[in-house]
Amino acid sequence: MTPGVRPLIAGNWKMHGLRADGLALARAVAKGGGGAELLVCPPFTLLREVATALEGCAAVAVGAQDCHAAAKGAHTGDVSAPMLRDAGARFVILGHSERRADHGEGDAAVLAKTEAAMAVGLVPIVCVGESEAERLAGEAEAVVTRQLDGSLPEGFAASGGVVAYEPVWAIGTGRTPTEADITAMHAAIRARLVARFGEAGAKLRILYGGSVKPANAAPILALENVDGALVGGASLVPADFLAIAAAAKAT
Ligand code: 13P
Repeated sequence: MTPGVRPLIAGNWKMHGLRADGLALARAVAKGGGGAELLVCPPFTLLREVATALEGCAAVAVGAQDCHAAAKGAHTGDVSAPMLRDAGARFVILGHSERRADHGEGDAAVLAKTEAAMAVGLVPIVCVGESEAERLAGEAEAVVTRQLDGSLPEGFAASGGVVAYEPVWAIGTGRTPTEADITAMHAAIRARLVARFGEAGAKLRILYGGSVKPANAAPILALENVDGALVGGASLVPADFLAIAAAAKAT
């Protein structure tokens, strides 16, 4: 944790949830709270409904999982940042490795989307992380640094932007880096943020993501420069998500 920074525990629901179970999940999460800020990121189809269900619930914010770089236009199937704002989102996840892999999103695209999000006051959560081959080749830090440099626009710090470090090989696998490796990578990210944004970079939240579960949350969240978690699978189970949030609060 970074002193004086409120942790953020974000649930990335990915492509999960029909109306009934999405609403039930949101309502269950709303019963939690405490020291950490909570965020749920449902699929587009549930965004408005979840936002409505959580209206008046200061403890839990709503976010989206992607946006287009343009505010509107002929982009069939895409959703813009103003549309997300209009639907009740306050945050948006950008550059998730699944988008980078499934949709060929490179750093320039992520940067453009991040600018679009910031332009309408959405807080961007920009994801970075190396593949297993890159880690084995000793290139993890270089890859993450390159992604940060290419994906974060000017003004990112002023927007309160969040960085999520998600090693690709730890997502959905039950495997996590060692505590030493997480600490080293988060320190490198912090150094880059400070170099780029000065004092403001020292207070930006850096989340860890990749197989965060109730059983490993407390030690991970206690690490220096780990200011919360981006949670996939465990965010679909209310008790697990709230246990992770409680671990953040306890540190
Ligand atoms: P898991 O928690 O399922 O590993 O997913 C992590 C993730 O990709 C969150 O964005």
